[in-house]
Amino acid sequence: MTRLVTFCVVLVALIIAINFSNYKKFPVSNEQFSFEKQEKIYKAHIVEMKELEEMRLAALHPVKVEEVVVPAGPLVVLDTPQLVHGSKLYKACVVCHGKRGQGKKSQKAPRIGGQMAWYLTKQLSAMKSGVRVNKAMLPYIKKLGTKDFQDLSAYISKLPW
Ligand code: HEC
Repeated sequence: MTRLVTFCVVLVALIIAINFSNYKKFPVSNEQFSFEKQEKIYKAHIVEMKELEEMRLAALHPVKVEEVVVPAGPLVVLDTPQLVHGSKLYKACVVCHGKRGQGKKSQKAPRIGGQMAWYLTKQLSAMKSGVRVNKAMLPYIKKLGTKDFQDLSAYISKLPW
């Protein structure tokens, strides 16, 4: 019986000793509990959670890029004979490059509206001479001359992009 009691006392003492040594390991803070501080931390946490939620929603539902609305009225002010001529010639190009020169995926035609005029003229001449091969477009440009290319380019470069 005495042995059992001694054993129990030693066991309890051991448990208490272990608990005390653990207790000492934790840092003791003298800071007073402050409602205001806790509230601040809580509010900052809410703000952070909101931002995270917005990011999550943005990732889930990416914003669809709205299609460009074609404004009514003339696209280009035809105030010179060159632009008038260019706009007439451009009618043949609309099938593939679009009214605004925005290009057409189904035709593999690139966007040309708003491109630099000198670049357009250079490409058209290169296509006509065969330096740049473009079988789809050749029938449309083979009868045109340098002046036509310049007029066309002037018009296309003025298209809004
Ligand atoms: C049958 C469809 C078609 C028609 C009609 C057409 N094009 Fe094209 N055009 C294309 C395709 C396809 C390309 C791209 C070819 C390539 O990548 O080499 C192209 C390329 C071009 C380029 C080069 C663009 C660049 O960024 O290098 C210019 C400039 C151009 N076209 C102007 C015209 C003009 C001006 C007309 C009207 C006279 C015209 N196109 C008519 C199909 C067409």
